[in-house]
Amino acid sequence: VLNGALAEAPCTSGGAHVDACDAPLLVRFLAVRARTVQLIAHLSDEDMVVQSMPDASPTKWHLAHTTWFFERFILRERSPGYEPFDDRFDFLFNSYYEAVGARHPRPMRGLLTRPTLKQILEYRRHVDTQMRCLLGQPLEPEVDARVQLGLAHEEQHQELLVMDAMHLFAQSALKSVFDPEWPLAASGRAAGFRCSGGGWARIGASATHFAFDNEGPQHRVWLAPFAIADRLVTNGEWLSFMSAGGYQDARFWLSDGWEQRCAEDWQSPFYWERHGDRWFQMTPASLQPIDPAAPVLHVSYFEADAYARWAGARLPTEFEWEHAVRTVQGLEQVYDTAWQWTSSSYAPYPRFRAAAGAVGEYNGKFMSGQMVLRGACIATPPGHARASYRNFYRAGQRWMFSGVRLAQDVD
Ligand code: AVJ
Ligand code: FE
Repeated sequence: VLNGALAEAPCTSGGAHVDACDAPLLVRFLAVRARTVQLIAHLSDEDMVVQSMPDASPTKWHLAHTTWFFERFILRERSPGYEPFDDRFDFLFNSYYEAVGARHPRPMRGLLTRPTLKQILEYRRHVDTQMRCLLGQPLEPEVDARVQLGLAHEEQHQELLVMDAMHLFAQSALKSVFDPEWPLAASGRAAGFRCSGGGWARIGASATHFAFDNEGPQHRVWLAPFAIADRLVTNGEWLSFMSAGGYQDARFWLSDGWEQRCAEDWQSPFYWERHGDRWFQMTPASLQPIDPAAPVLHVSYFEADAYARWAGARLPTEFEWEHAVRTVQGLEQVYDTAWQWTSSSYAPYPRFRAAAGAVGEYNGKFMSGQMVLRGACIATPPGHARASYRNFYRAGQRWMFSGVRLAQDVD
């Protein structure tokens, strides 16, 4: 794959010759771009067109939008003489950047039968060729940072692609397989709480590695002593919550959560189905029996919060979570199973300033009405996660691989 991708192709930006060893960023670029295309191996062309709900996007759109990100924010700004593949793609594949202009309405992404999948894959190859040329030359630090943002962006969309394709497959009785080799969440062992003395906690990313802007500025937060679970809440524990009437008892629920639970008749986590006396859940490897020892997946903030109250515990703040993974020994299922809801609203850290220009819209403008999730999940690309990472969703969303790590106050 690497050799093929490195083969010479015409450059518009000076015809530099590319050598794999002079540009580690190039090697990373090719690996991330290749992984996206590997993800679609078991999808049909039809699978890739449909949008199953407004929160989800068609696979085709993910393939094109991630490509557009490199074209729009790197090649067009930094590669003199670059000709856009198709001028109309700004309208089709701009997700939400007001500074870039008008765009195709998000809930109608599934109506884009054109460009065809074939054309979108050609678009990917066109942009990859031009990126190879750019990455073969010495990069200014801002361009290097922008490429890293583009790669982290594509990695976020790799996870979204899995979530969205599985959501689509869950709508049909066929419960099709996204990936036959998909690893199921591993069983855990009995949870224990581990104590942290609290104190001053260092929060946020340092400047040594790539991080999104919302992970900074680094600052200190004072924490009271707390305890945090060394593994995630299991399906078996969740079944106890269900049999104890957790979904029927408003006392455990936030008002907004109870309202949504009633409106949508929630009785179990998203994707759970009862057949006879057995529970199953949709996974990227189709419908699978619920393993009582595996961590619960696909719960909303509202459910996580209600569960914690029922269990006599609470959710950790995002600061407790980050401090704990840096300082508390023996925590499991941190990055490999489910994103973990925190009780923290997604808000800017002190002195946060979004970057100037369109890419400043990447994270900062979403800092209202969402909750922070920490960790990473089974669908997160390898190497994407870190202790300072702040994922965010609305409190009622459930199609992510989201789970629960409990916390408690200690004296
Ligand atoms: C951080 C997962 C909420 O889905 O909008 C994708 C990721 N940002 N493109 C989202 C993202 C820009 C983001 N989430
Ligand atoms: Fe995006």
